[in-house]
Amino acid sequence: MKNLRSLFPYFTNNDGIYLDNAATNLKLQSVIAAEMEFMQKINANPHTADFDNAYIATKAIEECREKVAQFINCDSKDEIVFTSGTTHSLNQIAFGLKKHLKAGDNVVITTIEHASNLLPWMVLRDEIGFELRYAPLDADGLIMTERLTEVIDAKTAIFSFASCSNTMGAMNDVAAVSAAARAIKGEMLICIDAAQSIAHEKTDVKAWDVDLLAFSTHKMFGPFGLGVMWAKKAVLEMMDPLLYGGGNNHVITTDKYVLTNIPHKFEAGTPNASAIYAFNQVFAFFENEASLAEIRAQEHELKAYARELARNIHDTDIEVYNIENDSPIILFNIKNVPSQDFGTYLSSKWNISVRTGSHCAKMLCEFNGCKTTVRASFSFLNTKEELELLFKAIKKGKTEWLDAIL
Ligand SMILES: Cc1ncc(COP(=O)(O)O)c(C=O)c1O
Repeated sequence: MKNLRSLFPYFTNNDGIYLDNAATNLKLQSVIAAEMEFMQKINANPHTADFDNAYIATKAIEECREKVAQFINCDSKDEIVFTSGTTHSLNQIAFGLKKHLKAGDNVVITTIEHASNLLPWMVLRDEIGFELRYAPLDADGLIMTERLTEVIDAKTAIFSFASCSNTMGAMNDVAAVSAAARAIKGEMLICIDAAQSIAHEKTDVKAWDVDLLAFSTHKMFGPFGLGVMWAKKAVLEMMDPLLYGGGNNHVITTDKYVLTNIPHKFEAGTPNASAIYAFNQVFAFFENEASLAEIRAQEHELKAYARELARNIHDTDIEVYNIENDSPIILFNIKNVPSQDFGTYLSSKWNISVRTGSHCAKMLCEFNGCKTTVRASFSFLNTKEELELLFKAIKKGKTEWLDAIL
């Protein structure tokens, strides 16, 4: 794959090694320029065509909706709702479906979900009294399709899981999980938290046979503060919005109101117009510079190399939890070294940026027994040399970290 670093201005402003792509990946110059252009030249509140710039803003938003619809292969652009991010989308999904859930139902998730796919369901469970069940996971954190009969039954209303976990990097075969679930109960809503897979593998909601999807654009080289919620038209029609106000009022009289149609029904308030305008550039990047297949292949090669480096460490104090899987995440710990101290060491001594802690997946400790971890997450923009340095730092750091942080 050709070197595309020149398209990402981060590299001209930083000389360290960026390994926090799972938190947010680097931004395209074209996205940054477009966001500035919107604010400097267009600066119009969309949803109207009363003057030229308002028309440009409105058109850019509807064009972007169409591009997202094609990207995830759904039926219509009217099924694409802009939100502020995955968290907003998942909250909209859970609370939007609230009136369709009742005591006696069950909702199925997993213990390694991000808090954004845990807390909304937990809050609703406590309020409504349905049962929250956890799908069995194998040692790599993948959903065990053959054991779904233990959690899915006639009372299952929703099955919500991440296509790829943000800690273990377990990449579920979504189509296979969904088929196994539907073989037990056809009529249920399947919701995918695609935050960690959207920029790494093809999303195809039809092939996956799912009903709802959530992702953030800052994890796909796009702008901060923008996300997408997708749901099938029939599901959107039965959902209530989280927010009410400007943008989703069709009729208001003293004694009644009528909301606008989907998707605008879910988009009350001024949208993040500059971000949506800029997000259009991400699709140009995938079309002209790097396809998802190329990105995937490059990341596959980098993970294979990381696997080789990890195997050559020969140190039982260094535990890498997920080196066998194919995701661009390396999750590890060094015995007796607090993860946060190690993250600080990697930054101060090696200029390597990683993330430490629970990664908003607090129940991970119930899965792999460790409360916190160090997470190095790479992208197709990283190099083998950078991974070599990471593993060199891990090996040296085992003894050096204390001196470095004191
Ligand atoms: C799997 C997963 N779900 C949800 C989120 C939340 O995304 P955001 O903070 O962009 O709403 C993240 C962020 O790291 C994630 O990795």
